[in-house]
Amino acid sequence: MTVEKAGQPLELSNPGPSTGVLEPRARLSTSARQLQLNGSWQFRWVEKVLDPNLSPSARSAERWGVIAVPASYVMPAHDESLQGAAHGNPSYTNVKFPFPIDPPFPPELNPAGEYLRTVSWENPPKRALLRFEGIEGAADIWWNGKFLGSTRGSRLPSEFELNGLIEESNQLEVRVYQFSAASYLEDQDEWWAPGIIRDVLLIERPDFAIRDVQVVAGFKGEKGQLRVSVELDSLADTEPTLEITLVEKDLPVHQDAQMEVTGVEPWNQEAPNLYTIRVSTGTAEQGGETVEVRVGFRTIEIIDGVFTVNGKPISLRGVNLHEHHPKWGRHVPKAVMQKDLALMKQHNVNAIRTAHYPPHPDMLDLADEWGFWVIDECDFETHGFEYASWRANPTDDPDWEEAIVDRMKRMVIRDRNHPSVIMWSLGNEAGVGQNLAAMAKAARSLDNTRPLHYEGDQECKDVDVWSQMYPAHESVEAIGQRIEPALADQELDARRRQMPYVLCEYAHAMGTGPGGLTEYQELFDKYPRIMGGFIWEWLEHGIDLIQDGQVTTAYGGDFGELVHDANFVIDGLVSSAREPRAQLKDLAAVFTPVIIQFEANGTQVRLKNRRDFEDSADLETRWSIETGTGVMASGVLAHEPILAQGFALLDLPQAAREPIENADSILKIEIAQKHESAWAEADWVLATETKKLSGSTKPSWGRPASGLSENATSETAWSLRDLLSVDESTGRVLRLGSNPILNWGLDLWRAPTDNDLRVSTNEPKEPAVAKRWELLGLANPFSRLISLNWSHNDSELEVVTRVGFASVDSSVECIWKWSGQGSDLLLNLTVTPSGSWPIEWSSHWARVAISFEISGSEQDEISWFGRGPSPAYPDNGQAANWGWFGKQVADLQERTVRPQESGRRAEVSWFQKNHAFGVASPLGMGVTIRPWSPKVVAATSHDHLLQSDQNLHVALEIACSGVGTAACGPGVLKEYRLPAQVVTGQFAFFGLKEI
Ligand code: GAL
Repeated sequence: MTVEKAGQPLELSNPGPSTGVLEPRARLSTSARQLQLNGSWQFRWVEKVLDPNLSPSARSAERWGVIAVPASYVMPAHDESLQGAAHGNPSYTNVKFPFPIDPPFPPELNPAGEYLRTVSWENPPKRALLRFEGIEGAADIWWNGKFLGSTRGSRLPSEFELNGLIEESNQLEVRVYQFSAASYLEDQDEWWAPGIIRDVLLIERPDFAIRDVQVVAGFKGEKGQLRVSVELDSLADTEPTLEITLVEKDLPVHQDAQMEVTGVEPWNQEAPNLYTIRVSTGTAEQGGETVEVRVGFRTIEIIDGVFTVNGKPISLRGVNLHEHHPKWGRHVPKAVMQKDLALMKQHNVNAIRTAHYPPHPDMLDLADEWGFWVIDECDFETHGFEYASWRANPTDDPDWEEAIVDRMKRMVIRDRNHPSVIMWSLGNEAGVGQNLAAMAKAARSLDNTRPLHYEGDQECKDVDVWSQMYPAHESVEAIGQRIEPALADQELDARRRQMPYVLCEYAHAMGTGPGGLTEYQELFDKYPRIMGGFIWEWLEHGIDLIQDGQVTTAYGGDFGELVHDANFVIDGLVSSAREPRAQLKDLAAVFTPVIIQFEANGTQVRLKNRRDFEDSADLETRWSIETGTGVMASGVLAHEPILAQGFALLDLPQAAREPIENADSILKIEIAQKHESAWAEADWVLATETKKLSGSTKPSWGRPASGLSENATSETAWSLRDLLSVDESTGRVLRLGSNPILNWGLDLWRAPTDNDLRVSTNEPKEPAVAKRWELLGLANPFSRLISLNWSHNDSELEVVTRVGFASVDSSVECIWKWSGQGSDLLLNLTVTPSGSWPIEWSSHWARVAISFEISGSEQDEISWFGRGPSPAYPDNGQAANWGWFGKQVADLQERTVRPQESGRRAEVSWFQKNHAFGVASPLGMGVTIRPWSPKVVAATSHDHLLQSDQNLHVALEIACSGVGTAACGPGVLKEYRLPAQVVTGQFAFFGLKEI
């Protein structure tokens, strides 16, 4: 390894760790004077630094602009303050390095951002630290022209000593290189987004300064187990008096002594009881410092392959959390981070994996306080070496050991006082090699209370928990049953069989989907060995880009990158602006803390408390009976608190058992929080279930409760030729009543979702489903009329068509049987496969639908009865409940950053446009109404480019394929696939004429 030249920047190709920095320590809340240096800094960007030994200002007096700190400097949001000066661009790659695999060398064309600011401090202290919570890239730091050191490790703090160097006015200069040897260790799937990305602080060091505090707080036999270690950084010869107190108990604590504490409540994710340890070396006047650490008492043990906290198995219903902001890049303002965690709490998320680096420390403070189980992951990923078959992977190269171990140490030391952190992760997708063992050893020597995690080594040599990403459901089940296939090495196999199992990533929340969540959750609930998992991922990494005065969302490739991975970075439960996507609502339903089940007897409801520790005393169970005109009756279902993991069988009150006379009704049960919490108002609903109440004397799920058409039904009878006009040469519908219809036809295709477009891991040899549809030509059906017969005095019409596709002999035969009933137009459609459909494929069709266009606009009001208000496909839509809903066409759209099929409403009994034209289906149908055709949607790259035409594009589905999660992982599960088969549907068109 090359050695640093004293007082000079570290070579960018040096694989070693930072230089000039102080030993790592925890972030402590201190009484010492501090100066926050966030704000406006001077800035300029250079394509290539010519003399790295010269500080930015010494090098030249080129023009400086102004930039916000913290932020990634490449973000377009800085264009304004930098007045058009170049500042680089974000670039997105998933696995690939955007430069040659040539370790440890960064590319020669290596841009840098240069920062400069004046720091004024009245009565400057003799001793102080300069602390950077995170600088992405490799940074060289100068203070009043003196070189302090070079940082590596983007999402980790670095501290520099400024003893005797602080004047009343000082100059701080930071040069951030985009790439260095360290880039090979930070190949996470995200934007390359360098800059000073976290807070910058000056912290005074008093004479009796406290350097670091480590608190180990366990909980055993109903007692807290406490050990506090303190390191001083004292100037004076005399030792200060050190006082350590457990504040809430007013209990003096002895340094480095193992103590038992009675009368404390343990910490867990559901009841995050926190206490304060205060460490003091005296008052400021005495030259002392007082710091506080918040602690939670809890003990983690793995017992017979089950991960327990305070003696109880825990279940993780988690998400992977990256740090991203659409304007500031890797800097997430604190209020936004709080919003992230509040949204998680509101949607029943109880765990976070900090993918793939330690988060801003404020996030862990909040996780301690609000209660989350956290896997804290080291800033370490070398995934791009996969493209070199892992040759020269730093993970297995001794030259890199020091830097890699340094990252692990810095994370553990910074975060080990946080009770929310229950596992350390060595990193992500960094292959295997000897440096993993060194990391594990370092972590264990610094903290032996937490198990280790790393997914990249399936032999689990260096870890305590077995982790996988995107496994198939069957394989998770086998692991739950402890019958997984054996490892070649018997010893390692035996060891792994004793480990708990976690899915560090599953269910890729990209675009429309993911499907199959319920089936995963059932496995997690069933097998104690399975800890649960973390959805990939919390948020989309879209970037705000102003184009023609409009804010648009950019993804990979939009900044002219040479290599990129397009919209694979748009795969979250919330948008980059933190708007919940439909999948978040579905997730909340799957992650519900209380499972609601209606008993078959119709008189009872069963509630299961899924929590691991706490009873349900803070929750209230409510019922209501609703009809198309509103809530008819409601009440609270009073019951004793349900114990953790317990259940209750509750009798429904009489009024909740029966439908309202002469009306269709639904029974709704909701679980709401009784009191306001830090993340949601009182009454926030955590779980909902509905059921249709049958037995109404006039069951009319097929019709709206009121409206023009109902009057019409009773008063007017129309002839079939009044109701329907078809093109007799093709059988296509031209008019439904007075409504002109365009492009009527059978549709087996949809605009591919991100999941449809990829080969799934459970069918790796079959083409992606969208590819199958393409090979079959489904997007372009050719319909040929076989026969058209009016009969029974023109009161019935039968149309037979053959629908085929270019260059294949796969086809379907459609029999369209039309008749009238009062003012309703009835259609029975039978679709029968003909010709040959590839038998080697498990599915062929996206859907079986009637598609057509009808005039209308985005402001048209659609009302419906069915599942809603959120969308649903056969394998998702867990949040969609029975009910009567109304939305404008614009609001029916689930916008996706890359346009694709979305916004389907499921099991729709009827819908109506502007309380006039409507369609009913006694068996329920899938309905999609969009202001764009599926072909336009499929051909459009970004949401803002979609232009609505004058028509509404309607699809009435009789059958539909699930969506799966093949964008990364298994595709559609067998029961939700759609192979070629006979399908029949019934529809009633109503509201066809003005009366
Ligand atoms: C995983 C990886 C994540 C992300 C995901 C796909 O392999 O750990 O960082 O790339 O796939 O979105």
